[in-house]
Amino acid sequence: MEIKITKAQNKTTLPEESTLGFGKVFTDHMFIMDYEMGKGWHNARIVPFGYLSIHPASTVLHYGSEIFEGLKAYRTESGEIRLFRPMENIRRMNASADRMCLPKIDENDFLEALTTFVELEKDFVPHSFGTSLYLRPYMFGNDETLGVHTVHKATFMIIASPSGSYYAEGINPVKILIESEDVRAVKGGTGAVKCGGNYAASNRAGEKAAQKGYSQVLWLDGVHRKYIEEVGAMNVMFKINGEIVTPELTGSILPGITRKSCIEVLKKMGYKVSERLISVDELIEALKTGKLEEAWGCGTAAVVSPIGRFYYNDVEYDVNNGQIGEVTQKLYDTLTGIQWGKLSDDFGWIYKIC
Ligand code: PLP
Ligand code: COI
Repeated sequence: MEIKITKAQNKTTLPEESTLGFGKVFTDHMFIMDYEMGKGWHNARIVPFGYLSIHPASTVLHYGSEIFEGLKAYRTESGEIRLFRPMENIRRMNASADRMCLPKIDENDFLEALTTFVELEKDFVPHSFGTSLYLRPYMFGNDETLGVHTVHKATFMIIASPSGSYYAEGINPVKILIESEDVRAVKGGTGAVKCGGNYAASNRAGEKAAQKGYSQVLWLDGVHRKYIEEVGAMNVMFKINGEIVTPELTGSILPGITRKSCIEVLKKMGYKVSERLISVDELIEALKTGKLEEAWGCGTAAVVSPIGRFYYNDVEYDVNNGQIGEVTQKLYDTLTGIQWGKLSDDFGWIYKIC
């Protein structure tokens, strides 16, 4: 694939690494590629970061035709720049495209776009452990008509944001509200893919949680309002009475790459991990009887994030006295150790850029 590069005139100055937060500042460039039915993907280019000009009738503005991914570029102590399991993101994006009737992208072209872009922006990959260059590939339908149909035109982009912790709490335990009114997804819907609409529909519950001082929402299944699904931006895992459990992929949960990696790491450590249905009643009972030993969320942005408190039906429940648990800490250390190059990559997950 030919990628035309137009260099930016000015260089963005980054804030102090310890104050980065998540997704607030961006690099100097962005990757763009256009799609037109009959012509396919074309005009791959990297241009200075800036505003887009799109038609007021553009599909994405009216019918929410949008999908995205999230992955990170890490800098090791020796200065190597690397990605974590990028083919997983590429394949999931194509699965999202399939569900949302958006055009797929050739896997090699996608990887080339990512590597060329990251190499150009490598100075923006922050240096401190725990910080990274968050990469956001996304695609939107861009027809210039109001009819509701499969798109004929689309745009694929990648932007990048030097980032620190997703949660203000960092590695300290977060507080999660179990939502019993709104639902995020149902089987057959779009819960298993990464489309913007899933997040737009989550905002009301998220706002309610924030007003009560909770970081995010834990969703229950949309049919019975009974089974635990996932958190707003991460999958969820529990240690209940010695057993590590995580909700099975029922078709309404995002198949997280961090979830998949955590399961593999835990199994290698010798833990048994059960992917099964977990009812909210089972969780509350385990909280009440002290059998819930640990709870944590996992995701690219959130990494491995301990959960220190749940709120459900007006009652607050502490997990492990609000402290990070032993398995959560081991998982965090192992995963981040592999990502930032402190531990050897025995799984073959690291993709070196430069
Ligand atoms: N679930 C939701 C709803 C998410 O937004 C994310 C973040 O991407 C995840 C789970 C975790 O997925 P991954 O580990 O692939 O980042
Ligand atoms: C990620 O972890 O990459 C995500 O996409 C979560 C995001 C919604 C902030």
